[in-house]
Amino acid sequence: GNPVDYQAEDATITNGVAESNHAGFTGSGFVNYDNATGSAVEFTVNAASAGSTNVVLRFANGTTVNRPMDLSVNGTKVASGVAFGGTGNWDTWQTVTIPVTLTAGTNKIKATATTANGGPNVDKITV
Ligand code: GCU
Repeated sequence: GNPVDYQAEDATITNGVAESNHAGFTGSGFVNYDNATGSAVEFTVNAASAGSTNVVLRFANGTTVNRPMDLSVNGTKVASGVAFGGTGNWDTWQTVTIPVTLTAGTNKIKATATTANGGPNVDKITV
């Protein structure tokens, strides 16, 4: 089907906070992950049918240090240490595309920080 946006600030946030103090986000803000391993955002995504698709994650990282995250789908890790490098400043957003396989109906897609720096600021995913 057509791509659908899922806003991070509307998702389930573990050790992070919804904020809007940097420009360029979509929706009402973005999630500032706590600077801690394990901080996470879990999106609830509906798929009309089972199969392969892409998760396009929009993020900003105003540091020069990579902020890797693992991606899990329905509790199974499907990508480890996906790189979210510096975007120049916190107002500059880029996307990373991660292929996934979804089941028909409701899917839980979770992006979890794997370093003590936490994740980048996350605006949304598009699926
Ligand atoms: C700054 C920035 C935040 C960001 C944080 C971080 O405080 O304003 O938006 O989340 O750095 O390092 O994660």
